[in-house]
Amino acid sequence: RTPLLIDTDPGVDDALAILMAHEHADVTALTVAAGNVGLDHTVRNARTLMQLIGAATPVHPGCPSPLVRAPDEDAAFVHGADGFGDVGFAEPSHPAQAEHAALALIRLTRERPGELTLVALGPLTNLALAIRLDPAFPSRVKRLVVMGGAVTGHGNTGKVPAEFNIGFDPEAAHVVFEAFEMFDLVDWEATVRHAFADEVYEGWIASGDSRAAFFEKIFGTARRFNAEHERTGFIAADALAMAVALDPAMVVRAETRHVAIELDGRLTRGATVVDWHRRLGGRANARIVLEVDQDRFRELIAGALGAH
Ligand code: BDR
Ligand code: CA
Repeated sequence: RTPLLIDTDPGVDDALAILMAHEHADVTALTVAAGNVGLDHTVRNARTLMQLIGAATPVHPGCPSPLVRAPDEDAAFVHGADGFGDVGFAEPSHPAQAEHAALALIRLTRERPGELTLVALGPLTNLALAIRLDPAFPSRVKRLVVMGGAVTGHGNTGKVPAEFNIGFDPEAAHVVFEAFEMFDLVDWEATVRHAFADEVYEGWIASGDSRAAFFEKIFGTARRFNAEHERTGFIAADALAMAVALDPAMVVRAETRHVAIELDGRLTRGATVVDWHRRLGGRANARIVLEVDQDRFRELIAGALGAH
């Protein structure tokens, strides 16, 4: 089983990805970022989820805000004000660790250099801070998979070409994209292309176990948002990044390019700029995942919900 570190801002699709990780891999720790909602909620949601599945995975709270500028928006309108569909879960007993997420990332990769796959499912603030504290941190990560970006400009935020995770903290993304030799990028557009038919989702919920029932509960606000925006299909952004982390062989098509972050643009701050035609002369730093084996993706999610 692949040893994983997960940086996350749960978040409904984060929850699904974290369930997949616990079903199919060994999760060393959850380091938690602010993003979809505030850090108090994202930490609590991570603890709630660990309690639900009876996992002992340590939960490390990270940065409460982006590195430089206050964010323009959060994603409470999709994930609910509490980030978990406003279900009203009781205070979980699963503890939060005292050690900061960035310090945990540094320590855990020192303990197991070259062994851990890092999956980033939220804004990259904690990773960027870890890099600034310890520039050798990226060299100890076996593999980094990032859910983020919109590689042809079809983003999902008010800054049209920006995707949420990158748009929330563009400077952090810049630090991470520059510091890692190479990483896998699973962008928003890929997740839209790999959405599931609503019936597939309903099938998981009908045949799954308590994890499926939990997911269906927290999915309520997102479902209403989708309906109001005439969005059909089940888009599982963080789950796709997790699937690629769990099973690299599921990638059918990818392109390796230099990817930079727009930090200034009036309309484009937070955009992922891909040097498709190799004009900028920058180092190829990202393997952009364009297509995956959808059946394998379905299988990995079904397993995590106890469904078939
Ligand atoms: C990303 O933003 C968040 O709302 C999701 O959890 C996912 O990580 C998609 O743009
Ligand atoms: Ca997320």
